[in-house]
Amino acid sequence: MEEKQVSDQTITSVSRESRVFKPSAEFKGQANLGSFETYRKLYAESVNAPDKFWAKQANAQLVWRKPFKQVLQWKPPFAKWFVGGKLNVSENCLDRHLGTARENKAAIIFEGEPGDVRTITYRQLYFHVCRFAHVLENMGVKPGDRIAIYMPMIPEAVIAMLACARVGAVHTVVFGGFSPEALKDRINDCKAKVVITADGGWRRGKIVELKANVDKALEGAPTVQSVLVVKRTAQDINMVEGRDTWWREAWQGAPNFHDAKAFDSEHPLFILYTSGSTGKPKGVLHTSAGYLLGAKLSSQYVFDLKDSDRYFCTADIGWITGHSYVVYGLLSNGSTVFLYEGAPNQPEPDRFWQMIDRHGITILYTAPTAIRAFMRWGDAYVLRHRLDSLRLLGSVGEPINPEAWMWYHKMIGKKKCPIVDTWWQTETGSIMITPIPGVTPTKPGSATLPFFGVAPKVVDNAGKEVPRNSGGKLAITKPWPSMLRTLWGDDERFKKAYFSEFPEHPDYYFTGDGARQDKDGYFWIVGRIDDVLNVSGHRIGTAEVESALVSHPFVAEAAAVGRPDELKGQSLVVFVTLKAGHEPTDELKEVLRSHVGKEIGSLAKPDQVRFAAGLPKTRSGKIMRRLLKELATSGEIKGDTTTLEDFSVIAALKSDDE
Ligand code: PRX
Repeated sequence: MEEKQVSDQTITSVSRESRVFKPSAEFKGQANLGSFETYRKLYAESVNAPDKFWAKQANAQLVWRKPFKQVLQWKPPFAKWFVGGKLNVSENCLDRHLGTARENKAAIIFEGEPGDVRTITYRQLYFHVCRFAHVLENMGVKPGDRIAIYMPMIPEAVIAMLACARVGAVHTVVFGGFSPEALKDRINDCKAKVVITADGGWRRGKIVELKANVDKALEGAPTVQSVLVVKRTAQDINMVEGRDTWWREAWQGAPNFHDAKAFDSEHPLFILYTSGSTGKPKGVLHTSAGYLLGAKLSSQYVFDLKDSDRYFCTADIGWITGHSYVVYGLLSNGSTVFLYEGAPNQPEPDRFWQMIDRHGITILYTAPTAIRAFMRWGDAYVLRHRLDSLRLLGSVGEPINPEAWMWYHKMIGKKKCPIVDTWWQTETGSIMITPIPGVTPTKPGSATLPFFGVAPKVVDNAGKEVPRNSGGKLAITKPWPSMLRTLWGDDERFKKAYFSEFPEHPDYYFTGDGARQDKDGYFWIVGRIDDVLNVSGHRIGTAEVESALVSHPFVAEAAAVGRPDELKGQSLVVFVTLKAGHEPTDELKEVLRSHVGKEIGSLAKPDQVRFAAGLPKTRSGKIMRRLLKELATSGEIKGDTTTLEDFSVIAALKSDDE
């Protein structure tokens, strides 16, 4: 169906997918954005006169305490949006709905993995957040302080984020699947003062021991003064006197109302760590007004939000999708968000479909890797349910293969729900390339066209736009409000990672992705072209896995590469050379897999460990991952080996092939 090939030197993208799905008259008739012509017109305005477009949107969409004086101050690579303005992000998600028809509307409908259900209205959510804002202030939290959130997908996680925003503290949410080591590194990088966690969370019927992990992490994280603990799973945990407080106890007696202070448009809102091409995760910094505007506006149009919607995004709040499209984008729009704590196959592989029917979910936003898992589990699990409440489907995290797109379209969407394949990144803050439902004709596997204000180009190494249908690097050529502002504490790395790929265009943002534009201008994302893998929709830096491996005392050297995987998109294969005196055994393979799990988290555990006598290197000593990738994928090495230093290494690797 579709062929794609990416190598270190060239990007080729050949796709034979030619089906086009026009929006149905029914969906079109009720869509928030009237027609394709309106999209074209608004899009042209947004990129031709961005200051005017964004000023209008910012005034219409956000509640300001002090108006901004200047829309954009752009000194590449540093952008300031809505300069001089002041607002409070939590007020924009909560207070604005009080006294409106949304006050008693459900903000969050929560279902825990064991089946417990809670509904929290906007008014109740406001009270929760106000009380928790007092808790934080009473603990001495000041604007700009960093707070780590390490929680299951429960309403308190959302409350914690919004309370941080309310008092001007900068949250850094660490996905609950990360190990104590990874949590510690993130806490230390941003010098967090407080950790908010839970005793545990439910996953596949078992408890994820979050508090125990926090205890381990804090052995090496001296900046943390206090830990707040939500009781969720109620097993025995260790509470450290003077440091740890139960959420409930801290909460008692705190007032229901809280005067939110106004913060500068550029006040830091959160740091979210993501993998890059070096071993150290990058602390992507997002600020207040621009981020919120991007998240809010895109939610409105991409999900075609209506007041009657019940929206379910399956991403964890530990990822950017959870930040923008569970919390900020949806709550600022006054939508009802459905939150699910656990695994999609607990107790059976039809959990999502059952919940969609039971709660009347209208919009589902999930990832291709999940769709492929559902396909594998079998249609019978889907066909037990009606799914007639659904009206719109979304996909995010990796290119969706046309087979999975068609299955999603037929089996889940019953051929009537538009699919929005949304391309974006942790760094972009909000959706960048996407169909507008009811408006944009879709092609399975293409994220289609840019969202308002987004100016992407497929370019060559010099930053020059390549002809239609040729592969190239995906660059964003103009700043946009929800773009990252820097990497926490490392402006130099920020500049190097994102704004130095095209020296002739120091204002072009480099996405790290390869892409192609077809004859209609539609974007087809090929995938990462740097040393970052996409395993089950999660970004994993090869260097991070390699440094975890070499931290094991038996390992001399390691190289991690991705291999196409039907279910996960890519699977992780590592090549390891051992220090003298250690034998390559199957047992050691398992030990090394667990070691990576311990260092980073089980999401980064290699699928395959291969021992090698030596790794292929260039004369300057760089590991030639390209050759290893080829070997892991096809079992052969046919690519260019002229820069290889020692040919015998390849022969040995091949003879070692499994
Ligand atoms: O390679 C692209 C892929 O995911 C990367 C961003 O990963 P992350 O920052 O973890 O954010 C994921 C959720 C926004 C991108 O560089 N990616 C994301 N969405 C798509 C995609 N690739 C193709 N199509 C998409 N819709």
